[in-house]
Amino acid sequence: MARINDNYLKLKAGYLFPEIGRRIKMFTEANPEAKVIRLGIGDVTRPLAPAVIEAFHRGIDDLTRVDSFMGYGPEQGYEWLIDTIIEKAFAPRGVKLKRSEIFISDGSKCDCGNILDIFDLGNKVAIGDPVYPVYNDTNVMVGRTGEADSRGYYDGIVYIPCTAENNFTPPLPTEKVDLIYLCFPNNPTGAVAGKAELQKWVDYALANEAIIFFDAAYEAFITDPAIPHSIYELEGAERCAIEFRSFSKTAGFTGVRCAFTVVPEALTGKTARGEKVGLNKLWNRRQSTKFNGVSYPVQRAAQAVYSAEGWRQNQEIINYYLENARLIREGLSAAGITCYGGTNAPYIWLRTPEGISSWEFFDKLLNECHVVGTPGSGFGPSGEGYFRLSAFGQRENVEEAVSRIRKNLAK
Ligand code: MLT
Repeated sequence: MARINDNYLKLKAGYLFPEIGRRIKMFTEANPEAKVIRLGIGDVTRPLAPAVIEAFHRGIDDLTRVDSFMGYGPEQGYEWLIDTIIEKAFAPRGVKLKRSEIFISDGSKCDCGNILDIFDLGNKVAIGDPVYPVYNDTNVMVGRTGEADSRGYYDGIVYIPCTAENNFTPPLPTEKVDLIYLCFPNNPTGAVAGKAELQKWVDYALANEAIIFFDAAYEAFITDPAIPHSIYELEGAERCAIEFRSFSKTAGFTGVRCAFTVVPEALTGKTARGEKVGLNKLWNRRQSTKFNGVSYPVQRAAQAVYSAEGWRQNQEIINYYLENARLIREGLSAAGITCYGGTNAPYIWLRTPEGISSWEFFDKLLNECHVVGTPGSGFGPSGEGYFRLSAFGQRENVEEAVSRIRKNLAK
């Protein structure tokens, strides 16, 4: 009989969002008349920008004609999309990138997990707590960890608690680590990091020959001009950081699927014998072998996000979600709930009422308000006592959810 990868059995329960889905299903089956409002998973609800849709259609039309038909594309993505990204997303911020340093993909979730392919299991990994569960679980799956302890911490991972006391920004680890996950604007806490904060990490990584995995999936929600959108805005980051970007939340592509990962050519790691090897070359090899690229019409649609019209239309969508975030944050704060995030991020991270755990609050909101959020403890032990609400809902649902929660808490 074939042996399984035992590491999968170390994982706790199900992945967070399917578990939430299971509880909602049970509730709706028992209460079919309830109008459940979902502010749990950060999934977009606004349609794609018209300019993006038009480019998407044109991309499909190209496939209908012999002269413009496209088969396999480059595994790394089409040059016209990569060039557009370099010119529109990075050059205006003073970041110079080469074509060969950007890899178009079908999602940051996959890239964050797949990147582990090119690193040895012996590397020490640091992750924040709470954290996007993918960082933790993919390390467990590849076998970098031992079992989890009673709190949910896996042996072999260095967890850095992010709490209200440190503004949900992780302090530097006290032991030497090799791989560091950073996510700003943060999922789940909505915290942001300024230049000094990020420079501290870049300096640490350079001094310790560590690599930072910088997840910038929510950079489009930054409104404060002082906050960097890319880790490469920091001095020396091209020598120590890989950046993950996504069109999912930026442009409503959660169902369309397009993202990209930046692996600068200056990045190196070492072999078992201590020789230096470029990470870009390894990632290129990995992608060419295990990935066949993103579909042509999807890349055409992604390119249109950066057109003048697409950009303007898309900004309206982002502002819509940011206004949702404001309504949630201000509405619940006025009801006495302590809220964090939600100004440069689409997530509101709130404290559960005194004496109520994250999952208890989840059940209370589902059963009494028919509102779904995400329990903070699902993101790690330090998320206990917190709860995440997503601002990606439809406006009327957001308003209704805030009103239901306020009424419930006033009882
Ligand atoms: C979330 O709700 O945390 C995100 O939607 C998950 C993801 O982007 O994969």
